[in-house]
Amino acid sequence: MTKPRFASDFVWGVATSSYQIEGAIHEDGRAPSIWDTFCARPGGVEDGSDGAVACDHYHRFADDVALMKALGVGAYRFSVAWPRVVPGGRGAVNERGLDFYERLVDALLAAGIAPYVTLFHWDLPQSLEDAGGWPVRATADAFVEYVAAVVGRLGDRVQTWITHNEPWCTSMLGYHTGRHAPGRQSIPDALAASHHLLLSHGMAVPVIRELGKGARVGITLNCTLAHAASKSEADQALATWYDGYFNRWFLDPVHGRGYPEDMLRDHRDKRNLPADWDTLVRAGDLATIAVPCDFLGLNYYTRAVFRSSDLPEAQNLPVTVRPAPAEEWTDMGWEVYPDGLHELLTRVHREYRPRSLYVTENGASYGAGPDASGRVPDQKRVDFLRGHFRAAARARGEGVPLDGYFVWSLLDNFEWDRGYTQRFGIVWVDYATQQRIPKDSARYLAQVIASGDLG
Ligand code: FCB
Repeated sequence: MTKPRFASDFVWGVATSSYQIEGAIHEDGRAPSIWDTFCARPGGVEDGSDGAVACDHYHRFADDVALMKALGVGAYRFSVAWPRVVPGGRGAVNERGLDFYERLVDALLAAGIAPYVTLFHWDLPQSLEDAGGWPVRATADAFVEYVAAVVGRLGDRVQTWITHNEPWCTSMLGYHTGRHAPGRQSIPDALAASHHLLLSHGMAVPVIRELGKGARVGITLNCTLAHAASKSEADQALATWYDGYFNRWFLDPVHGRGYPEDMLRDHRDKRNLPADWDTLVRAGDLATIAVPCDFLGLNYYTRAVFRSSDLPEAQNLPVTVRPAPAEEWTDMGWEVYPDGLHELLTRVHREYRPRSLYVTENGASYGAGPDASGRVPDQKRVDFLRGHFRAAARARGEGVPLDGYFVWSLLDNFEWDRGYTQRFGIVWVDYATQQRIPKDSARYLAQVIASGDLG
């Protein structure tokens, strides 16, 4: 059997996001984001921490670019902080905020690394949340204005743009479960937010193409496979529901199918849809959302297995999916399930036919730190990555147009509501000194990139 390999033009990269690494929250005219506010709320973040300093990347970006160059990555996916660029959410553009991203982009280009820029990775200006946040339509208009400012400045140098990162998280964790900023708990608000996020994506794409020379534009969705624990109707129905809530609610409209009928019915029956849904979704919105894109980004971490409590346990037999053994779960409590990446890529290709696909995030949280010699032996992360790279290679071999793969994350960083308790980096960060130490997984990735051999 020939070993799986990736073609030499395959894009290997690493990913981060602004609030998780930048720090410097009061610098150069940045205004507060919803995450600054959320972190200050007691109980919001597990360890009571915030992104005020994080990895201090705002000041150390040149060193971090050098780290990436040493790894040999061809691309870096990072996000722009809206509250640096348009601190008031709407109105005046803060040139000093844009200067930072210009310095970063220039450093990347000088190092031969292509910037893949995400325009929204969750740090909404607080002023916009005060005006209603994503549940109100005006936030979509504000997004397009902000995007125009960023692309107007960087569009001559950045070719690849991602409008949104994981609108499921922005809407559902932010406005339904309240686990993420802004921490509201209303499913109608969350569904209104999801529509305005998707709408803002559709509105932004033509603006990016107009202002960015040769721009390639896409959106990143996070998909969690929903598997039923048994063949019982109740388990199957639950898994189908979750797939609709998490995956199809976003995949369908982006690919021109509108919102899935089963989910619309269910949300309506349970009075989850906003009362004004039929006017909130205006004529033309679905066509706007379905704007053809150059690629689709997928973030993949794990699957979810569903066991309904509607039936007595005995009737949900036979169980076909059993819980994985403890060693197959990451520190996040997520099951390690590499086959799911193959399943997701082949399914999205088969059902939606995007022109091109990227894994825009995949990685694992493991706490392994430096040993006595200062080396970070994170073998579990190496195994995790190898398993997922192989799954991706298999999907490519079967004809999936997968063009690149970004490991989450370059650095250990601020993991949202989990604070600094979770380490996803292939580079260790000592938060007291800001020292960076490439872990064994960084060396593994460098070897894969250099040799094409997945090991
Ligand atoms: C994704 C986020 C990213 C990071 C990883 C672990 O949902 O996009 O910022 O938190 O999970």
